[in-house]
Amino acid sequence: MSKGILPSAAGVVDLRSDTVTLPTDAMLAAMRSAPLGDDSRDGDPTVRALEERAAELTGKAAAVFVPSGTMGNLLAMLAHGERGGEVFSDSGAHLFNSEIGSVVTVAGLVPRPVASQRGAMQEQPLAQAIGASSSAGRPRPALIWMETSHNGAGGTVLPLAHMARVHALGRSNGIAVHVDGARLFNAAVALGVSAQQIAAHTDSLMFCVSKGLSAPVGSLLVGDAALIAQARAFRRFVGGNMRQAGVIAAAGLVALDTMIARLRDDHEAAGQLARGLAWLDPALGEADHVQTNILRIDVAGSALSAAEWAARLEAHGILVQASGASQLRLVTHRHIDRAAVERTLAAFSSVASKR
Ligand SMILES: Cc1ncc(COP(=O)(O)O)c(C=O)c1O
Repeated sequence: MSKGILPSAAGVVDLRSDTVTLPTDAMLAAMRSAPLGDDSRDGDPTVRALEERAAELTGKAAAVFVPSGTMGNLLAMLAHGERGGEVFSDSGAHLFNSEIGSVVTVAGLVPRPVASQRGAMQEQPLAQAIGASSSAGRPRPALIWMETSHNGAGGTVLPLAHMARVHALGRSNGIAVHVDGARLFNAAVALGVSAQQIAAHTDSLMFCVSKGLSAPVGSLLVGDAALIAQARAFRRFVGGNMRQAGVIAAAGLVALDTMIARLRDDHEAAGQLARGLAWLDPALGEADHVQTNILRIDVAGSALSAAEWAARLEAHGILVQASGASQLRLVTHRHIDRAAVERTLAAFSSVASKR
């Protein structure tokens, strides 16, 4: 059975990521009727509309549409323009774990991991690292990087007060701040604030419409006009310019118009899973830690490795992601309803009873 088929239609519960979400009917209709142009030549009106909407939603002056979150983050690193400098982030950041190649080889930045707690850098060690980096003979401080919601920490959300202090630290040291907000709207919904209130605490921000918001492709980088002009130039440099990209931008517009409020349902489903797993085996669940749509389950205390858990759950039609030797990642999304949660809990129970 192909894992690419709509999970519910195929009888599979696919919890590997919210990127498996398929476009809605409204998105497909919008894609069919979107006004189009050559985005790299005279501009595409639908892309322009999406960029304007992204800027408006985040309270920034400008936005640029890119095919992926990775490219949006890369353009931020290039546009902030401190080749050879240090980028400060927590060691569990997606940047350091999944994008390190582009950090080092394309952006030319030196990674500087900072001790963190549940995805939030500890502020004292961050200030110390910036101080050390400012001394002679060290790479100069280039960029401070935050991630919210935080994938590696299990969908945790950075408190606004923490973000404000980190942004102020950046300002007082003349260092730009970027936020990887691949799941920005999950963070906003969890905090009960607007995306703009989060984006107020950073100079640039990337968010994806291709994850829980269910658009098929695309991310946006937002910031001030000069930064986004630079990023646009670098987008061409890395081969990211697109042509009738309005076809995909149209789905992004529908995502922003119709899919944000329902993220609450995904958070609720994640909470149900976490509570169910904790009830099954307290070692499997830290229900209190689930803030958004991502659960990280530590199976180190069980007799099975993460890969073995994933394989046995797959035999029950439940797809999860093994992460390292002892961690499973489960991500809820639009295709995970109450029945899917119950099937998942039943499968965990069955695997646990046979291990
Ligand atoms: C926090 C975070 N940042 C960036 C990305 C990269 O996004 P993309 O897969 O669109 O390149 C991801 C992807 O899952 C992510 O979780």
